[in-house]
Amino acid sequence: MSIALGRQWIEQATGIVGFTGAGISTESGIPDFRSPNGVWARNRTVYFDEFVRNEHDRIEYWRQKSEGWPGMRDARPNAGHLAFTELARRGKLKAMITQNIDGLHQASGLDSTLIHELHGNGTVAGCLSCGDRTPMDEAIERIQQGERAPRCRRCDGLLKPATISFGQTMPMEVLANCQRAAESCDLFLAVGSSLVVYPAAALPVVAKRAGARLIILNRTATPIDELADLVIRDEIGKALPALAGVETSKQAGGSGYDPVLE
Ligand SMILES: NC(=O)c1ccc[n+]([C@@H]2O[C@H](COP(=O)([O-])OP(=O)(O)OC[C@H]3O[C@@H](n4cnc5c(N)ncnc54)[C@H](O)[C@@H]3O)[C@@H](O)[C@H]2O)c1
Ligand SMILES: [Zn+2]
Repeated sequence: MSIALGRQWIEQATGIVGFTGAGISTESGIPDFRSPNGVWARNRTVYFDEFVRNEHDRIEYWRQKSEGWPGMRDARPNAGHLAFTELARRGKLKAMITQNIDGLHQASGLDSTLIHELHGNGTVAGCLSCGDRTPMDEAIERIQQGERAPRCRRCDGLLKPATISFGQTMPMEVLANCQRAAESCDLFLAVGSSLVVYPAAALPVVAKRAGARLIILNRTATPIDELADLVIRDEIGKALPALAGVETSKQAGGSGYDPVLE
């Protein structure tokens, strides 16, 4: 029932803003932060100022990144990412805001001009001094060859994955673009985020206050569920294609949802 209602709203909408968190990528094999087997259950957080100040924190940070890199490098988009790409193909998706750093929206064929990466991109490393960029594969290879916290080859500055760490300032123009998108959409579709990391988690509230419908799709409860017009507690790879009206072979095999005909 709720899926059918959401699908109807998506059919009616002309300016959808999608918003994704780590939950959309767990079915691609990338663990999220807060689930029981998530990253936080295994690693300590290295804050940005610790990274900048202490060599041993940089080494620990890069150790964690090296450990997670093969999984991120080899991950492929899943049915959830592809459902957003399909909404864009139909001209409905006006912006894709993501907290993710895995590049899987780009890999799913979504036009990169639609994608706003709030927390940066973990497939490249950047120099904190001169901004020079290095593919992550190359940075990790240098670690494997013995550099424990690689430095910039151009200026010897600190090399760090091009992501926003805890305690690091978010690029204001990215946030401003997301805010504008949230204010002007008619439907805000938040998927796979625990909606507790600010300022990202404020965006669905901005959209709702500006008059948009708000749909939240997440396996577990979020602090703003009460504000939503529709909350769907389900697995994304199954529920999002059904919401978006995208037929998949899995659903054709009988997922329990209404068959989607287009
Ligand atoms: N893939 C990535 O790029 C990645 C992975 C881990 C963490 N992060 C970073 O960590 C921060 C953590 O915040 P967050 O809110 O995005 O993630 P989170 O870990 O706080 O929340 C993910 C949410 O997704 C739900 N979930 C997980 N798998 C699901 C599935 N298959 N179907 C339905 N729901 C599912 C969980 O219940 C959880 O509430 C992000 O801001 C991001 O920058 C990114
Ligand atoms: Zn440099």
